[in-house]
Amino acid sequence: MHRVANTRAAREPGPCIAVHGRMNRDEAVDTAAAARPPLLVSLRGASVRFGPLAALERIHLALHRGDRLALVGANGSGKTTLLRLLHGLAPADGERTAYPLAPEGRPLRAAMLFQRPFLLNLSVRWNVLVGLWLAGVPAAERHARCHRALERVGLSTLAARRARELSGGQQQRLALARAWALAPDILFLDEPTASLDPGAKREVEQVIGEFAADGVTIVMSTHNLGQAKRLATRVAYLEGGRLLADLPVDRFFDGRELPEQARQFLKGELPWNT
Ligand SMILES: Nc1ncnc2c1ncn2[C@@H]1O[C@H](COP(=O)(O)OP(=O)(O)OP(=O)(O)O)[C@@H](O)[C@H]1O
Ligand SMILES: [Mg+2]
Repeated sequence: MHRVANTRAAREPGPCIAVHGRMNRDEAVDTAAAARPPLLVSLRGASVRFGPLAALERIHLALHRGDRLALVGANGSGKTTLLRLLHGLAPADGERTAYPLAPEGRPLRAAMLFQRPFLLNLSVRWNVLVGLWLAGVPAAERHARCHRALERVGLSTLAARRARELSGGQQQRLALARAWALAPDILFLDEPTASLDPGAKREVEQVIGEFAADGVTIVMSTHNLGQAKRLATRVAYLEGGRLLADLPVDRFFDGRELPEQARQFLKGELPWNT
């Protein structure tokens, strides 16, 4: 398994969130990590339990600025739980650390898009404006940011429409606009194109690709391996709550470095999803 070294943390600014335990700053230094972009979030031995069920077991993962990480794995393998954990929404044993953004030194901003976007029964515009209000964005900035975000996803002409009357693809683009309006450093996307038709899927993928090109770090779960190939630079494979592979996209799909289970997964899924 290609594991991004945890140890870069020893050279990063101090953690702003440490859920459990403290970072061991004396851990060995991996010289390969020195050339990587700044670390944003790291998990070390992080586990999530739901009663007797271990949804995630001892996950080690380092997310760097500019990563486009796709999480793949069967239903129930732990993808959504891992997204929530990385975002700081799931209580875990072990350690999660979010680092201030270097060189600015401000806290990270992250937004999450859930598989079924929750849209208020208001206009498209007001869905974005309420999101900005909830995030504490000053009133004077809200309208301009909302306008830019809707333009960004191609929805400005529908700003006055009721959000719940939009098509599935348009609703997903609205949810992306609402997230993008918050100027996130990281976007967590849970199956962002599930249940969309091919045209809507392409539109949403294009928006995600543009956000990534702007420098937003992307972590997304997907059942669509073709989508992982198109959008990700790195792919992680989960099975039964364990992270069995985490490789650059070309090495992942090459398959030679994968454990047997992940190879089987690729064999089973590729003919259907590319
Ligand atoms: N709130 C919860 N309470 C109890 N069990 C949960 C909860 N959330 C997730 N689980 C369990 O944790 C495991 C991992 O679930 P998770 O939703 O992360 O999987 P997933 O890979 O996202 O699956 P899918 O592909 O179906 O979306 C599953 O066994 C699931 O039933
Ligand atoms: Mg899920």
